[in-house]
Amino acid sequence: MQVQAKAAKEVGAKLESYSFEIESPQEFQCSIAVEYCGICHSDLHIIDNDWGMSQYPVIAGHEVIGIVKEIGSQVNHLKIGDRVGVGWQKSACLQCSDCLKGNENLCNQNQPLIVPGPGGFANHLLTDSRFAFPIPQGIDPKVAGPLLCGGITVYGGLRAAGMSSGQEIGVIGIGGLGHMAVQFASKLGNRVTVFTTSEDKAEFAHQLGADRAIVVSKGEAPPKPDRLLNILLSTVPASLDWGAYLEHLDSDGTLSFVGVSDAPLNLPIFPLIMKRRRILGSPIGGRGMMIEMLSIADRFKIEPIVEVFPSDNINEAIDKVRSNSIRYRAVLDFNQS
Ligand SMILES: NC(=O)c1ccc[n+]([C@@H]2O[C@H](COP(=O)([O-])OP(=O)(O)OC[C@H]3O[C@@H](n4cnc5c(N)ncnc54)[C@H](OP(=O)(O)O)[C@@H]3O)[C@@H](O)[C@H]2O)c1
Ligand SMILES: [Zn+2]
Ligand SMILES: [Zn+2]
Repeated sequence: MQVQAKAAKEVGAKLESYSFEIESPQEFQCSIAVEYCGICHSDLHIIDNDWGMSQYPVIAGHEVIGIVKEIGSQVNHLKIGDRVGVGWQKSACLQCSDCLKGNENLCNQNQPLIVPGPGGFANHLLTDSRFAFPIPQGIDPKVAGPLLCGGITVYGGLRAAGMSSGQEIGVIGIGGLGHMAVQFASKLGNRVTVFTTSEDKAEFAHQLGADRAIVVSKGEAPPKPDRLLNILLSTVPASLDWGAYLEHLDSDGTLSFVGVSDAPLNLPIFPLIMKRRRILGSPIGGRGMMIEMLSIADRFKIEPIVEVFPSDNINEAIDKVRSNSIRYRAVLDFNQS
């Protein structure tokens, strides 16, 4: 079958139409007719080769929602016509101790969907069905995609940091990931403080469930804390004054990184030692956590707020992500392509 995709042919390039052939699914594979695909900032990092691992042409897109069209001989948990989602991870060994513990996201052999790809900026996707997740009926397919990477990442990063309920939780950066973090943390019974560079996001933060919003201009440190946090989740793709943010954590509090900063962390040691604070990094989430997160999103009505673009307008959508003018996640509509 011929696939119509959108590809970056070189580092940082505008996306162009690109077509290629896929075979019928074998064994555990399935083929999916893509309906929608979110644009995650990681797609930009890969298009721009920020992490030195990109392979061109890059066909990015890893917040994929679509309908199963064909399945391989070993697929039992999906049937033709099911609506599924596919996120950042395409496969894992499924046999190492991390995989056996349900932490497929930590597997040494875990493979991203878009490196080498092809990913979901296309009208069809051939992929391993073991990393394709049924979408609960209560979630609108138009908004579901961002849960598959952004949603699982913030849910995983908060859970790994010990999120339960009744806690004080901070979120730095209210983009695609951050606006979902505020919803998960608040709907699960925590009080949320938002740190944002955007005035309009500070005003809207209450509607996402935040209790307070603090505007911190780009390049500035946050003000001194007047309320201490148990968990502070950073979703920003930049380097901030982490030492100043550490001061916002209570004793035994955790600074949890999911955003990929553009430089190594620069942290003072005494604020960590004297208050037994912790630093954590967290990648996406395992398959069990993905199913748990989707179920919570369904039951607690946690919905990404999206701007939908026809797939042919992909470059306009990407430019809006780059300029931080999307509110709050760009989603491409592949239904007509
Ligand atoms: N760990 C993982 O598994 C994982 C998974 C997915 C994504 N990520 C990473 O998470 C990061 C965020 O992804 P995203 O899709 O949420 O991106 P996004 O939609 O572009 O949002 C990032 C937000 O960070 C803030 N920000 C951006 N540049 C900033 C700067 N120079 N200084 C201060 N704040 C800044 C902005 O929020 P305000 O307007 O509120 O200031 C922006 O909306 C990326 O690095 C991405 O690669 C990691
Ligand atoms: Zn493994
Ligand atoms: Zn992502």
